Amino acid sequence: MTGDRPTGKLHLGHFVGSLQRRVLLQDAGGYEKMFVFMADVQALTDNADNPEKIRQNIVEVALDYLAAGLDPDKCILFIQSQIPELAELTTYLMNLVSVARVQRNPTVKTEIKMRNFESNIPLGFFCYPVSQAADIALFKTTVVPAGEDQEPMLEQTRELVRRFNQTYSEVLVEPEILLPEKATSRRLPGTDGKEKMSKSLGNCIYLSDTAEEVWQKIRSMYTDPGHLAVSDPGKVEGNAVFTYLDAFCTDSDFTRYLPEYGNLEELKEHYRKGGLGDMKCKKFLNAVINDILEPMRLRRREFEQDIPEIFNILRKGTAKARETAASTMCEVRHAMRIDYFDDSELIRQLSEKYGDR
Ligand code: TRP
Repeated sequence: MTGDRPTGKLHLGHFVGSLQRRVLLQDAGGYEKMFVFMADVQALTDNADNPEKIRQNIVEVALDYLAAGLDPDKCILFIQSQIPELAELTTYLMNLVSVARVQRNPTVKTEIKMRNFESNIPLGFFCYPVSQAADIALFKTTVVPAGEDQEPMLEQTRELVRRFNQTYSEVLVEPEILLPEKATSRRLPGTDGKEKMSKSLGNCIYLSDTAEEVWQKIRSMYTDPGHLAVSDPGKVEGNAVFTYLDAFCTDSDFTRYLPEYGNLEELKEHYRKGGLGDMKCKKFLNAVINDILEPMRLRRREFEQDIPEIFNILRKGTAKARETAASTMCEVRHAMRIDYFDDSELIRQLSEKYGDR
């Protein structure tokens, strides 16, 4: 199980970080069930005053999922806020972690800094790691395909699951994170070379960008500022074009577009030595990325023709997700002994206590 905050369209960072892997996992069919969801509740934790943004982006993210190849017959797509059991489990998990522990979560720390909350952190935002732990635990998730920024969330989830199981009984399951295989895919830099591709930094290539938009972005991409003339030796490290090539290109792309090089190592070697221009590398990257995005654009256009059907898919997925959610919550309430109305033992005990006087 995994998901995304519906705060905007998905970009290449989402694709290499997790989306690509999800489609592979889905098609390999190695898991009993697979859930992918739109984390609108989490998105609202720092967008409480702008629910319209989330409302509009639910369908954008759904279209990106479907365009990337997620198939509602193989994978349960749902909307977080429509599963009330998530809120319920969150409430109980909150009792099993300290404020200090949440404060130490490095992802939350950086996000608080990035958003300039200072001392005005919304409590809901502060608690979102617990809510995320509930997302994961409610489905008895074993594997979460996600980027490395989600690692602290997974650690926190495992701690909460252990704590729940120790305190009550073994109901919840400790999940593992499944990181992208290639190190360069774990955190894709922006087209400006900054650490991370992120909507708020305006350095994204979106999965739904047109071929022309993609080329404009790639053409002005950050490379090596010291590589002025083609003949100058260039740096490959920290050069966004090469980082993207690391993440996206395969040897067959060379056969197809740059047969004078056998593989990326040879291209890098030439760049380091000098004599290889940025434009040539950018054109190659553009071709590679376009081969990935073009089939998605076509699929997206098809799905865009029938928006009511997108909502049907989400409605059906949400109903399926709720079945699993309800069943786990029954076990959770039972483990916590708060299933009073089904607790014949409690009723009998108390009847005895008050009965024979
Ligand atoms: N935190 C994730 C993000 O920022 C979204 C998310 C919410 C998530 N709950 C999750 C991811 C559970 C994986 C599993 O995109």
